[in-house]
Amino acid sequence: MKRQDAIRNIFPALNEITSKFTLPKKNHQKEYLVNGELRKWTGPFQDVLSPVYLNNNGINEPVLIGSYPLLTEKEAMDALDAAVRAYDHGRGKWPTMPVEQRISCMEEFIFRMNEKKDEIVKILMLEIAKSWQDADKEVTRTIEYIRDTIGALKELDRNSSRFTIEQGIIGQIRRAPLGVVLCMGPYNYPLNETFTTVIPALIMGNTVIFKPPKLGVLLHEPLLEAFRDSFPPGVVNTVYGDGPTVVGPLMKSGKIDALAFIGSSRVADILKKQHPKPHRMRSILGLEAKNAAIILKDADLENIVKEVVLGALSYNGQRCTALKLIFIHQDISDVFLSKLTDEISQLKFGMPWDKDVKITPLPEIGMVNYQVELIHDAVQKGAKIINPDGGTKNQTFIYPAVLFPVKENMRIFHEEQFGPVIPVVPYKNIREPLEFIVKSDFGQQVSIFGENEDQIARLLDPLVNQVCRVNLNSQCQRGPDTFPFTGRKDSAEGTLSVSDALRVFTIRTLVAAKDTEMNKKILKKIMREHKSSFLSTDYIL
Ligand code: G3H
Repeated sequence: MKRQDAIRNIFPALNEITSKFTLPKKNHQKEYLVNGELRKWTGPFQDVLSPVYLNNNGINEPVLIGSYPLLTEKEAMDALDAAVRAYDHGRGKWPTMPVEQRISCMEEFIFRMNEKKDEIVKILMLEIAKSWQDADKEVTRTIEYIRDTIGALKELDRNSSRFTIEQGIIGQIRRAPLGVVLCMGPYNYPLNETFTTVIPALIMGNTVIFKPPKLGVLLHEPLLEAFRDSFPPGVVNTVYGDGPTVVGPLMKSGKIDALAFIGSSRVADILKKQHPKPHRMRSILGLEAKNAAIILKDADLENIVKEVVLGALSYNGQRCTALKLIFIHQDISDVFLSKLTDEISQLKFGMPWDKDVKITPLPEIGMVNYQVELIHDAVQKGAKIINPDGGTKNQTFIYPAVLFPVKENMRIFHEEQFGPVIPVVPYKNIREPLEFIVKSDFGQQVSIFGENEDQIARLLDPLVNQVCRVNLNSQCQRGPDTFPFTGRKDSAEGTLSVSDALRVFTIRTLVAAKDTEMNKKILKKIMREHKSSFLSTDYIL
């Protein structure tokens, strides 16, 4: 079938889907988790339509896959009260619980989460049109992240299970929780990115309110009972609904001690400003990025094109780490473009459950329209769509488009497309891509492709001071999750990784005493009789 026809017929009829796999039951979520109870909601609901349309006698229509509660300020404040009570100024059961017991709660949660894995993968796939393969990877990676977090906490705890004696003072230094943490994840990794903040915040003794992103809510529902049963009441609470309605009042209350938000810097700024005492609130933010690939004149195009495509188009380019601007040396641009378009034409596109599919619909029709807007703007200003059928759309689907030559006056040069459009900028002098990076509002990562170690070395030193990860002949990415993930300028605040996350949701605190006989006697007695969870030299094995 010609590609244009395949795009026209991309959406299946219901019986074509059901012949391939069983659709999950419609997920009408009627409850929300507050204070250890799944409370019934009787107010209005938000319908969830899958971006995977169905062909109903020649008409492509969105499909209803469920609904979730549209809570109000009152329920949000109930969640806040529950989290504040469970924390109880650091005196609650959870923040004072020995680390080993908190780990047991988390292990119980992992066990329960594993049981729900297949259900979560299916909903994730239908809710945001992520391929089955990537959805499965997201859930597996998240479970591994929780396991690694437990491992990192054991190590942290072992390192803190000792006394330091300095200048006649005996001290035990540990990391203590911050209080109530509000976690808000993004739609592109609604499970993984939400949990890379929720899990470390929890395990370090904070209490949590989490609000799933607007797209990517239903996949959390199978976990509500596991949250309820694995942790003491009020330790995990959920809110759903319109951001300004439910999140605004939480921030204005001044009772949020840490905000973990992955999304746009515009929204992050609004949220931070709503807090009456912003200096009291720790912010952990993952924001926009416009990661560039710089392809040097000597790059081995044969081998790098696959990596560039992976970097630009995995999950349709909807990754904060995606390569969003490709700088190619002008002398090799023709060869590069021909290899790039060849590679793209090999990518399988279709429905998220299709085996080995790489390009799938976007989660909302508005996102397709935004890609089209950026393409039109670039074309009007002189760029061409280089690849056959690039930018062809059908409802929520848009076929990848390679734009060339992209120039500074085009919107796509600056704006984060977050979609399957690959802008390629020819350059003559290496100063041109460097200048882009210096002037850019973003500073997450960059990829350099080339073989000459002298030239690469000359680039590394200025680039590490502009961004937070320089990738060599590899795409930009967050993983492995033990590596630090952060950014400069408008791209991030705070650093996340399995071990860094344990640090960002805590503060160092210590017990100190002058090295006197009386003090030593008191300390020994407390430890020998296990009178304190904090003051202890017990090792977790
Ligand atoms: O959207 C941002 C994600 O954290 C990217 O993660 O690079 O592993 O796909 P990834």
